This record gives sequence, structure tokens and C-alpha cells, in this order.
Amino acid sequence: MLRPTKQFGTSSTRRSFLRSGLAAPAVIGASMAANSISTAAFAEDDDGPTVGDISILRFLAALEILETDLWEQYNELGGIRDPEEPSGSGNKPYIDLLAQIDGDMSQYIHDNTEDEFTHFNFINEYLKSKGAKPVNLERFRTLHGSIAQGSSGKKRLTNLMNLTVDASWWGRYRSREANPDLGDTTFANPVPGLLKGKFPAIPRTNDDTTDPKHLLAIVNTAAFHFGTIEQGGSSLYPSLAQRVSSVEVLRILLSIGPTETMHFQVWHDKVGNITKVTDPFNGLTFPDMASFQGNEDLQANLIMPEPTHFLSRSLPVCSIIRPTATRGAAAAAVRALTDDGLFIGQSLDFFTELHELAAHADAAQRRQ
Ligand SMILES: [Fe+2]
Ligand SMILES: [Fe+2]
Repeated sequence: MLRPTKQFGTSSTRRSFLRSGLAAPAVIGASMAANSISTAAFAEDDDGPTVGDISILRFLAALEILETDLWEQYNELGGIRDPEEPSGSGNKPYIDLLAQIDGDMSQYIHDNTEDEFTHFNFINEYLKSKGAKPVNLERFRTLHGSIAQGSSGKKRLTNLMNLTVDASWWGRYRSREANPDLGDTTFANPVPGLLKGKFPAIPRTNDDTTDPKHLLAIVNTAAFHFGTIEQGGSSLYPSLAQRVSSVEVLRILLSIGPTETMHFQVWHDKVGNITKVTDPFNGLTFPDMASFQGNEDLQANLIMPEPTHFLSRSLPVCSIIRPTATRGAAAAAVRALTDDGLFIGQSLDFFTELHELAAHADAAQRRQ
């Protein structure tokens, strides 16, 4: 049951919550009152987080934990190990091919990994500072990851070895006509083959590093997956921000979200440098990206969003993040990650937990 506390107990908060018709998330329980911490350090804004705000933050913490897990796998094999990201020891053939895309790929992988860790760690600590329960998914760390040279071999939350990567964000950000928020569903896809199978984005074993074309296809899959993940974050934060009540929580979403977009922009640029190849084992084909020159829906260097219709087709076109519709945004994010194959092998309990967190986030309403 919802316990009115100093942090969550404004009458308008309770009204908003009751209107949602949902039972209170279990996190908002007796422990919250017991663990209440002064909000003086966060007193810049308003009445403090609502139950809905906490639900949104808890969902975001969960997704950031999952992001951290997948990025850590990339960093173990393809990034830079240092005191900030010590796990793993690097896979030289994988790193060498990543470096053909850009000499700084390993640095970017490292930095993206560190950023994700700070995202979930900050959100969880903020939740604790407000007396709310942080998110912990460690009991779901059950998946076997890569056993190739460089992997730490530890158990994982996410699966990077059977991905079905949707690269249609490439065309979505180039379209001058279409916007998923206005019902459009078809966008140019530079690698439609990535949607037609399950492909590794990391070397699963050392056997995956012996054939250069096969390993190149793995590296290219990763390069597109980097963009797929980070464009998702770029949409998720503004989508959920529209239902946040506390100005301070809004500030958190508005401050983390654009870093996802900074990541996305880097990956969007880098993946334009991939080398064309056909995987000799599974036929997955990556195009010569230079061949798209002159085709506005696919051209490699059109990495800044083309203006498109926003809110209404009767308004002038605008260069924007898309989609940003707020309704069902959390559930849509879970669906997209699931469809990617990121959670293949996870338990029913894992999906139940993730769907519950998403449902609570999507039930959040702005305080009136
Ligand atoms: Fe993140
Ligand atoms: Fe991210």
C-alpha cells in the first residue's frame, strides 16, 4: 500500500496516483518511511518525486543496468581495460577490425560503458536518497557469455550472440516525410539482412576470430548495434520526461537523455565507415556505404537528423529526436530490446520483473 511520506505524500501526488488505478509499487512501502532521508540537499525545486517519478526512475535504472551489462561485454573484448573498466583483457583480432572503422573505437566503447554504469549507479543512489528502493537485477545474471580470448567469462544479464539488429533508425533519421509518432512504419534500412536472422556482435569463441570475413561481419553487426541501443536511449528519456512531475527528476532525465544522444551521434557517424563484406558462414551482407552517396534516405554522412514532420503535418518540418511519444514508451523500449534478441535465454521471472517495471513507469502521470 502507498504510505504517505514527506517525500511522496503531497495530496496532489496521491490523487494522481489514485487516478492511475494501479496498486502501489511494492517499493513504496513501510521501508520508505523508515529510510527517509532529508531532501534538503535536493530542495531546489518542488514537492519532491511522486510515486510515478519513482516508477520512471526505477524503470530507467533497470534499463541502465542492462545497458551497462551489454556495454561491459563489448568493452571486455573490444574496448580499453583500465581502473575505470577493469573487466576482461581484450580480443586483439576484434579490436584490430574495430580500429579499421575508427582508430578511437576502443576508447568510445570504454567511455560509453563507463557512462552507462554512472547512469544506473546515480539513479539508484538518488532513489535511495529519497527513501525508495534501488533496482537490483543481479539474481538474473545467469547467461553464459563469450568464451573467446579476452572475455572475463562471468555470467551476463544480456545476450550479444544472437542479435536481430533493427538498423531502420538509419532511414528514420534521414526521412523528411515520416515520423513513427505520426503513424509511419516504413524506413530505409541499410542492412535489411540484420533483421533476417540471429547474429553475433562479439566473438563467441576463438573460432569466430579465425575467418577475417566472418569476424568483419561480427564487427559490423556490433557497429550497427551500438547505434541501435543508443538511439533507443535518445528516444526513451524525452518520452518518459513528459510524465515526470518533480522538476528535479525532470532535470535528471533531461541531463542523462542527451548523453545517450551524444553516444548515438558518435555511433551513427562511425558505422558509416564499415567495410562491405558477406559472412561466408551465414550470408549476412553489409553494403558498401559509399554506394549510398546521393540517396538522401541512406547517404552515409547525413548523420544529423533531417527535419521531418513533428506533432502535426500542418506544422513546419523540424529537426528532432524521433519517436518521443510518451504513451506506452517504457513497454515499447522493452519490446524493442526483446525483439533485438538481447534477452535470449533469460528466465520468465526476468521478463515478469522487467514488464512490471515498465508497466509502473507507463502508469505514471504528471502531477496536476
Ligand atoms: Fe544510459
Ligand atoms: Fe546508452
